[in-house]
Amino acid sequence: MRSKLIAGNWKMNTDKASSVELAKGIASKNQAIAGENVDVLLCPPFVYLPGVLNSVKDARIAVGAQDVYFEDNGAFTGEISVSMLKDIGCNYVICGHSERRHIMGEGDEIVNKKLSSAISGGLLPILCVGEKKEQRESGKTEEVVEGQLNGSLAGLSENKFMAITIAYEPVWAIGTGLTATPEQAQEVHSLIREKISQKYGQEQAQETRILYGGSVKPGNAGELLGQEDIDGVLVGGASLKVDSFSAIIEAAL
Ligand code: PGA
Repeated sequence: MRSKLIAGNWKMNTDKASSVELAKGIASKNQAIAGENVDVLLCPPFVYLPGVLNSVKDARIAVGAQDVYFEDNGAFTGEISVSMLKDIGCNYVICGHSERRHIMGEGDEIVNKKLSSAISGGLLPILCVGEKKEQRESGKTEEVVEGQLNGSLAGLSENKFMAITIAYEPVWAIGTGLTATPEQAQEVHSLIREKISQKYGQEQAQETRILYGGSVKPGNAGELLGQEDIDGVLVGGASLKVDSFSAIIEAAL
């Protein structure tokens, strides 16, 4: 039985004080979820990770980074390694978010290296995939998502794949207020599960969590989370307020 994962991607938002306030607010509102079949994850900007980790240390809330570099140390100015994230107590890392793919120009080859290093170093990666608006409109959703899965997962053994959560995030739905309908999302989620089954077998496909992301809000979370193959959500904008993020967590209970 797959437990649900409700993840907040704070992106390049908050500051030192408000990141702690947000994390503490979410922790105190969500004490009741301890023991439930729902995991909660916060992904603040790198520099606020220590403050957020400290703020949720007594709560059943995991903390992750929004990105990581694949080399372990050395002359890579500006980058952060897996061992650094582990060192401060992170458990998760987002890999291949569409903003990294499309703004920073990260391709599947880099995402693949990041996934591999993250898993070897003991982090649990969330691999993001999703099509752009014009790709959906020209009927290329399946092709794009399959291509990203194949490229990002190239050469990853079943043992390594077990650590991965997938997030389907249609680019046209991110930060736009446009959400995929529950049926549209379910269709792609079931397709992703099918592709995982082809690559890693039926049993592994049933175990893998597949999150939906893209303008998730308290008002649409329940219906999305009610779909058979939607095992959680990756939330951007609505994760920046205690009340809206908590309402999304409650929708998963
Ligand atoms: P959004 O972002 O909820 O603001 O659309 C989701 C994401 O990019 O992970």
